[in-house]
Formats: sequence, C-alpha cells, structure tokens
Amino acid sequence: MTAPTPRPGILDIKPYVPGKSGTEDGDARPVIKLSSNESALGPSPLAIAAAKEAVDNIVRYPDGGATALREAIGKRWDLDPARIICSNGSDEVLETIPKVYAGPGDEVLYSQYGFAVYPIATMAAGATPVTAPESDYRTDVDAMLAGVTERTRVVFLANPNNPTGSYIPASEVRRLREGLREDILLVIDAAYAEFVSRDDFTDGAELVHDSNNTVMTRTFSKIYSLAGLRIGWLYGPTEIVDALNRVRAPFNVNSLAIAAATAAIADEEHVTKAREHNDGWLPRLTQSLRGMGLIVHDSVVNFLLVRFPSGPEQAKAAEAFLISRRIFVRNLGAYGIADGLRINIGLDHEMEALTDALAAFMEQA
Ligand SMILES: Cc1ncc(COP(=O)(O)O)c(C=O)c1O
Repeated sequence: MTAPTPRPGILDIKPYVPGKSGTEDGDARPVIKLSSNESALGPSPLAIAAAKEAVDNIVRYPDGGATALREAIGKRWDLDPARIICSNGSDEVLETIPKVYAGPGDEVLYSQYGFAVYPIATMAAGATPVTAPESDYRTDVDAMLAGVTERTRVVFLANPNNPTGSYIPASEVRRLREGLREDILLVIDAAYAEFVSRDDFTDGAELVHDSNNTVMTRTFSKIYSLAGLRIGWLYGPTEIVDALNRVRAPFNVNSLAIAAATAAIADEEHVTKAREHNDGWLPRLTQSLRGMGLIVHDSVVNFLLVRFPSGPEQAKAAEAFLISRRIFVRNLGAYGIADGLRINIGLDHEMEALTDALAAFMEQA
C-alpha cells in the first residue's frame, strides 16, 4: 500500500520541544513554571478586559489586516503601519520568511545557539540550515560573515538571543548588515527588546527604515505576557511586507489577540512595572546562583543561561531535583548545551523557591 509522503527533508526536522508546563503529568500540586520565558507579572488588566470584550463578537472574522493593532504599533514605536505585518506569534512570520525567500539548494544562516524555530522554518521551506559558531555563547559577527556562501539567502539574528540571554551591540548588528551581500535578507528577531536596558542596544528598527533587505520581528508573548493569544509583528521594507502578505493566511491573527495587544500597548505603566521587576531580579538571581558555584552567563533579558560545573549529568540531576519540587526550567539538550538549564525570572516567591531548591541541590552535590 502506498501512502502520502512528505516532501524530502520534512521528516528530518527535529520537532520543537516546548518548555515543560506540568499540566500533562496528572500531579495536582501547584507548579512554578520558569521554562518558557513568559513575563513574571502576567498581562495588563486592560489587555484581559479587551480580550473578554472581544469574545462577544467572535461570530465575525477578524480584520485580516489587523489595522487597529498595526496603527497602535506604528504610533507606539514611530513606524509606518503600512510596513507592519501582524502574525500569529512572531513564530508565524519567522516561519513564512524562508518559504518566501529560500528554497531547495539555498542556505539560511544563524548562530550556533540561535532560536530553535530557525532550523524548523528553514527545513520546512526545503532550504539548508547553516550555523556559525558563537564565541562565549554570544553571536560572533566575523563567524557569521565567514558562514556566508553564494547560496545564502536569509540570515536570522536573534538579538538578544534565546537561550543564551546575550546580545550584540548596535555597532555589531550594523557591521553584520554591511558585511552581507545586498540580496541577503537579514532578519533581526528582537523578541526580548523591551527587557534590555543597555545604551548600545538596538532593536534594529533604524536598520530597516531605509533598507530593502532588513526586517525586524517583535512579539507580545514576552514583556506583554500575551503568549497564549499568539501575537507578534514584523516591520520591514514595503516590497518584503508585500511578498510576505501574499503568503500568510488571510486571517492569521484572531480578534481576541488584536484587541488585547492593542490595549496592552496603551498600558505603558504595566510594561514599566514588568521591566522594573525584571531589572530587580536579574542581578540578584545572577549573583545568588554564582554564589552557589554555578556558571551564570550575563543576561540582558528575563532569563538566565545557567551551566553546571560538573557537566551534563549534574544539569540533568538539577532539573530532576527542581521537578521534584514542582519547579520547571528549560532543558537545553535540544540546543546542544547539555550542561545548561535556562531559567526565567518569575514572581518573588517563585524566585525564592528556586534559589532555595538550587542551594539545597548544590549542597548535596
Ligand atoms: C528569540 C525568539 N524569537 C521568537 C520567539 C517566538 O515568540 P512568539 O511566537 O511567541 O512571538 C521566541 C519565543 O520564545 C524567542 O525566544
């Protein structure tokens, strides 16, 4: 019997491994979920109210152009709404890009520990993923440029990067763009931009303004805490926005997401609160974990890459120990960082439970 067969390469894709949530294991004890980089404080009450109100009208299709949201984004970030696409999480637009700009025989380049969606998106398009080594868990622009071949069509740059928490400064992003051929599309994935408080950081928007080959992607899943609604966006040159709009699903963004994200933008106070909470915990958690003998990489976002000095077995044991206390962090085996765990900043009591647990683990180790 013959059966439908996926295109060559599809079954070589390693499925995306989401952060452990605990809802599937039948254990009723409360969970501390620090595995998916969601924001600690949750969404703005205005966003929740707007989503609830939008429920009354779900009989209707959403606005396929997400006009109200694009206008709100344009106003907030001083961008032309006509050059914005809203998408079903930024994942959706990241997945669409290789479909439109790369295919069999083409290469898509990103750094060694680049975000896990890049290889999936690349292989789904039939293109070949190519990675450039990082230096000390940070994007290395020279290595990226050395990874370019005549087949390179797209370069993904997560800045800051997940799962490392590191970033490269604006001057390095510019150097990368200037070193790439003009026909290579540079995708600056700035999912965590709102958390960064460094003067030399850029979300990349200024590189998009006058270019015809650079886009920036953003999300409402992180500081805005709307991950469950799946809502992100892209800012790019008119021609690229036009091409991507032809391929995306006509009603890719649902009406609850449009309403909630539009309301979330208006609540700047809530965003400030979320940033301040993060700014308070990031150095505190870093110092306290370093004090236990853990290798904690400098982070500018809402999560830490924590590596275990005795190696992968110790990381595995630590993860199991945390799970026994119902604390879920991200295993990084799929990223090739087997001695590491990724831990995001949570609420005060969650951070205290985490540090207590890791201190107990390290003492017994
Ligand atoms: C670097 C990076 N880019 C993009 C995303 C996708 O976010 P979303 O699809 O929820 O907008 C994530 C989520 O973890 C991420 O870490």
